[in-house]
Amino acid sequence: MKLAVVGSGYVGLVAGACLAELGHDVLLVDNDSEKMGMLLRGEVPIHEHFLPELISRNRLLGRLRFSDSIASAVQTSSVIFIAVGTPAMVNGAPDLSYVEAVASAVARHVGDFKVIVEKSTVPVLTHQEIGKVMMLNGAPAESFEVVSNPEFLREGTAVLDFLFPDRIVVGADGERSADMLRQVYEPLTSGAYYSQPDAIPRPATFTGKARLLVTSARSAELIKHASNSFLAMKISFINAVANMCEAVGADVQEVCQGIGSDSRIGEKFLRPGIGYGGSCFPKDLLAFRLVAEECGLEFGLLNEVINLNEYQRKRFVRKVRSALWNLKGKKIAALGLAFKGGTDDIRESPAIAVITALCEEGAEVTVYDPKATDRARSVLKDTVKYASSPYDACSGAHAMVVLTDWQEFAELDLAIVRRALRHPIVIDGRNLFPREKMLAAGLHYYSVGRPTAVPKPATQSDSHDVQEMLRQIGEPLSNLSA
Ligand code: UGA
Repeated sequence: MKLAVVGSGYVGLVAGACLAELGHDVLLVDNDSEKMGMLLRGEVPIHEHFLPELISRNRLLGRLRFSDSIASAVQTSSVIFIAVGTPAMVNGAPDLSYVEAVASAVARHVGDFKVIVEKSTVPVLTHQEIGKVMMLNGAPAESFEVVSNPEFLREGTAVLDFLFPDRIVVGADGERSADMLRQVYEPLTSGAYYSQPDAIPRPATFTGKARLLVTSARSAELIKHASNSFLAMKISFINAVANMCEAVGADVQEVCQGIGSDSRIGEKFLRPGIGYGGSCFPKDLLAFRLVAEECGLEFGLLNEVINLNEYQRKRFVRKVRSALWNLKGKKIAALGLAFKGGTDDIRESPAIAVITALCEEGAEVTVYDPKATDRARSVLKDTVKYASSPYDACSGAHAMVVLTDWQEFAELDLAIVRRALRHPIVIDGRNLFPREKMLAAGLHYYSVGRPTAVPKPATQSDSHDVQEMLRQIGEPLSNLSA
C-alpha cells in the first residue's frame, strides 16, 4: 500500500521505517529541513535499536522516501498517518495546533478517498475535531475517514514494540477505514512478516501473530491515555511501597516478587526508583486529568500518581543529603542523564531534575551518560562537569549517585569505582546492584526500598575514622519518612 507519515519524531520515524519494513511504500514528511537533511544523508537523529538498519535497507529497496511536501504525500498515498508532536502547554493540555495544521493541509489536497490516522497521542474526541477541520478546509465528508491508531512504543525498544506488539488498536467508526488499516497491519496479523528470512529477530517473549483490536475511535483514544496512566500508576504505587519498605526495614525486591507473581497483578512495571519521566507519562497523565475535569469527573487517583512521582524525586535528593550531610561543596558523580536506559532522550528526565536539585544545594556534580550527554549539555550547560566515563566521573567524588538504569552501569567494575571515589558511598536510584556485591566491594550502599548495606568495620586498609563515619551514616534513614 502507499502510505504517508507526517512528522519524523520518535513515533513518526519508527512508524515510517516499520511500515516500510512490512512492505509498504512509505513517504515520510517533515518540514524540519535540518532533520530531513540528516535523514537524506543517511544519519538517524535518534538513538533507537534496529532503526538505522531498517531505515537504510528500506531506503535502498525504495520503500522509504523523505519529503517536505504534504501535497505530494496526500496525492500519492491512500493512508496518511499524523505523527506530529503534541507538547504539553502550561495548563497541562497538549498543544494540538500541529495536528490541526497537518489536517488542514491534508484537506486541501484530498482527491480520492483517504484514511487519516491519528498516531500522535491526543485527548479523546480529537478525531472529531480533525474531521471538522478537514471539512472546513474543503474536504468533502465522503472523501475521508479519521481513525485512531495509538502507538504503544517504548523508547529504546520501539522497533520491536512496533513489529512484535501485544496488540494493535484500530479505532475506526467506518468499515472502509477499518479494512484499510487491517490491510496495513496484515503482515503482522497473518504472521507473514515473521517468516521472512531477513525479519528483525523475534523476541523470546513473542509467540504467534499480532492481535488487532478494532474499536470505536473514541475508545481507541481512551485506550492510549488509560494505558499510560495505568502504567504510571503501577510505578507510583511501587515507589510508595518501596518507601514503606524503607520505613520498616523490608526489601522491596522481595515484595515485588511476591506481589508480581500474582498473575492478576504481573511483575512488569514494578521497578521502584526515582519516578517516571520521558515525553509520554508526565504529559499524558496531565492531559488525561484535564479530560476528566472537562467531563466534570473527579479522577483523584491521577493526582496521587503525579504527586507520588514528584515526591519520589525529592525523596531521593533527601537520601543523598542524608548520606552526605551537607551538600554544599560536595563532589558528586551522577551516572545517568536519560529518562531511562537505552535512549538518549532527556525529556522530563528525573535524572536531570535530581542533578539540578543537587546543584541548587551547592553540590559540584560531574555527570556521565553513554548516550544523552549532548542533549543534556543544552539544558545543564556549565552547571555541571562532563566526564568521559563513569570512572572518570567518580574520580575524587564524595559519592556516586545512579540516576538512569543503563546496563553499562550495572556492569561497572566496583573495585575501580571504590578506588576512584573519595568516600565509598553509592546512592542508587535504580536498584542496579545486588547489595552483597556492594558490600563485598567495600561500598556503603543506599538504594530504593532495600535496607542500606554497610560494609563490615575495620579492614586493614581503612582507617578507624572512615569506618566510624560509615557506621554513622549507615543508621536507618529515619528522617526521610517526614
Ligand atoms: C511509554 C509506554 O511504556 C509506551 O507503551 C508508550 O507507547 C509510550 O510511553 C508513549 O506514550 O509514547 P516510554 O516513555 O518510552 O514508553 O518509557 P517506559 O519504558 O514506559 O518508561 C517510562 C518511565 O517510567 C521511565 O522514566 C522509566 O525509567 C520509568 N519506569 C518504568 C520505572 O520507574 N519503573 C518501571 O517499572 C518502569
